[in-house]
Amino acid sequence: MGCEVKGLEGVIAGDTAISTVGKKDMGLTYRGYSVEDLSEHASFEEVAYLLIHDKLPNHRELEEYRTALVNMRGVPDRLKVVLESLPPASHPMDVLRTGCSALGAIEPETAEREQDQYRVADRLLASFPYMLLYWYRFHQSGARISHESGQREMAGHILALLNGMPPEAIVRKAINASLVLYAEHEFNASTFSARVTASTLSDFHSAVTAAIGTLSGPLHGGANEQAMKMITPLRSPDEAEKEILRMLAAKKKVMGFGHRVYKKQPDPRSSIMKEWARRLSAEAGDMGLFLIFERIEEVMFREKKLFANVDFYGALTYHLCGIPTELFTPVFALARVSGWAAHIIEQRADNKLIRPSAEYIGPEARAYVPLDERP
Ligand code: CMC
Repeated sequence: MGCEVKGLEGVIAGDTAISTVGKKDMGLTYRGYSVEDLSEHASFEEVAYLLIHDKLPNHRELEEYRTALVNMRGVPDRLKVVLESLPPASHPMDVLRTGCSALGAIEPETAEREQDQYRVADRLLASFPYMLLYWYRFHQSGARISHESGQREMAGHILALLNGMPPEAIVRKAINASLVLYAEHEFNASTFSARVTASTLSDFHSAVTAAIGTLSGPLHGGANEQAMKMITPLRSPDEAEKEILRMLAAKKKVMGFGHRVYKKQPDPRSSIMKEWARRLSAEAGDMGLFLIFERIEEVMFREKKLFANVDFYGALTYHLCGIPTELFTPVFALARVSGWAAHIIEQRADNKLIRPSAEYIGPEARAYVPLDERP
């Protein structure tokens, strides 16, 4: 027998006023605003403010918010010691998870959680790019980079820390759009794990640390990295088609396709990422990889009726923006921390311990066998 609903599929596990995913007549919205509008017109900080503070900021509020985030970008020296001691071969998602946890030990949330949780949310949002890229650049070249990137906006800040120079405008805009699209997605696995942790009245850093661990898996955020790794060796659309047919015949999953919610309708984030990938490819004067991705998309729909999710063209966009493949999922996390923060705050505001039950499928009750009598 066993539980009939595997993986909580289709189960409504709580209320939220933060976003709608695949809702009839609304599609994907953050606090009622469509992601199509937000990704085209808004900066990531505007969206983070909207998610966490429940309103679009006006000019003054946005500038004050940006200034507050800029002032919180550095990390304590103790944390730098931790980052430097992590192996160069660590996965950057492990580094971010460890960094978040260490920051929680160095600068814990205070007992006045109702006020302090906003400080912690801003601090994590502001310091994550430097935390990640301090470790990355230190282990790449021995450089101890400064958190002062000269860029006020998050997208430019990430790119400047990564490359040590100001980004091109088109690349900054593409990364900004991706951060907006990655910021929030209702009760996805990592957000749900943040809410489960928050529901025990644990602290903010623990909830975000749990979420980072959950995001890193290839069925969730890790898919963008895996998709790129699978596609990189492919040299032409025909070779890509053959490889995908081989994978499907072997019952292997193709990362970047399928979604728990978007089964009958496409992931609205995918077409936006696809357009950015097309623009960046045209700008670079090389449509080669784009055509390979497009053929894979066609084959997956023809063979399996599966749509590309955000991670498929998201991977190509990041590649074209010069983001190293192993940093794809961490950059997703730098954006999603805004959504996690909004959900932790929402969970706390109307908390009930999240603790479902299980259908028992183990052995009947039986007598204990003393150690000496066991075969
Ligand atoms: N490649 C090949 N077959 C697939 C894929 C795929 N990517 N996704 C689903 N299927 C098949 C699956 O094998 C199953 O077939 P059958 O019924 O014959 O056994 C059927 O489609 C239903 O799939 P499922 O895995 O039971 O569906 P789910 O709702 O439990 O899983 C999913 C959703 C996202 C885990 C899954 O589609 C998947 O593993 N995709 C690849 C990983 C991926 O791209 N993840 C990113 C998700 S979106 C953004 C994010 O969260 O980061």
